[in-house]
Amino acid sequence: MGAVESKLSSGLPVRLDGVSKTYETSNGPMRALEDVSLQVREGEFLSIVGPSGCGKSTLVMMVSGLLPATSGQIFVGDEKVQKPYTKLGFVFQQDVLLDWRTVLQNVLLPVEIKHLAPVELYRQKALDLLKMSGLSGFEQRYPYELSGGMRQRVSICRALVTSPPLLLMDEPFGALDALTREQMNSDLVQIWQQTRNTVLFITHNIDEAVFLADRVLVMSKRPGRILSLLDLKDIPRPRSLKVKDTPEFQKFVANVRDTFVNQGILS
Ligand SMILES: Nc1ncnc2c1ncn2[C@@H]1O[C@H](COP(=O)(O)OP(=O)(O)OP(=O)(O)O)[C@@H](O)[C@H]1O
Ligand SMILES: [Mg+2]
Repeated sequence: MGAVESKLSSGLPVRLDGVSKTYETSNGPMRALEDVSLQVREGEFLSIVGPSGCGKSTLVMMVSGLLPATSGQIFVGDEKVQKPYTKLGFVFQQDVLLDWRTVLQNVLLPVEIKHLAPVELYRQKALDLLKMSGLSGFEQRYPYELSGGMRQRVSICRALVTSPPLLLMDEPFGALDALTREQMNSDLVQIWQQTRNTVLFITHNIDEAVFLADRVLVMSKRPGRILSLLDLKDIPRPRSLKVKDTPEFQKFVANVRDTFVNQGILS
């Protein structure tokens, strides 16, 4: 993969210092996030899990620079985030593929938008990512010809094609059925083991959070605060779905669940 490949695996660290967010609404100010301080290591996979409305999307939107923090500071690498940050990939809950472009053209969209050259190099990178994602043979098909899981894999390829040092994923598998979701978890682990960029991954699913991550950030009800930060280094990598049967895995899942039970978020 040459020059493009050599830029891979250089994830950037992310730092949040006392970050809070208050939205101004028609009913007055609404505190969404409360004093979040956090350091994500370069190349780390961080899962963020918390109840609906606790500010998870708010948090990653602020990291992306699309939404300003009310107070506190955010750094990606050495750069303070003050405007939309361009060196990142973003995967949303609903894939946003363009139905009039082929799968390959969808994956190459960020390359075109950013006017990156040489396009031929990225074309090969896109083809490699699609292959890695089990989408060989679908490069010239259109999104409406694909299943939901396949479409979401195309979205992931698109987010990765420029080798962004930071990948933000906001409940990317929320709309998928349980079986496809398991497969996507497995696929994502395989892909990330090769790309090793820094990932912030939001989910409601405790199992998914633990399976994917190096650490899991557990958030409180709104206004979102950090309840705990679990280090999963005891769950060895590379991981396959089989790891979910191990006592270590189940211990961490129980730990997160207990945190929610103690907070009255789960009963
Ligand atoms: N633009 C906005 N204006 C006003 N309030 C907002 C805005 N965006 C989000 N909120 C509120 O801020 C809180 C946090 O929202 P956010 O979308 O970050 O939650 P979340 O944790 O991602 O929830 P979910 O898991 O349901 O996606 C919610 O109470 C929401 O209603
Ligand atoms: Mg959200």
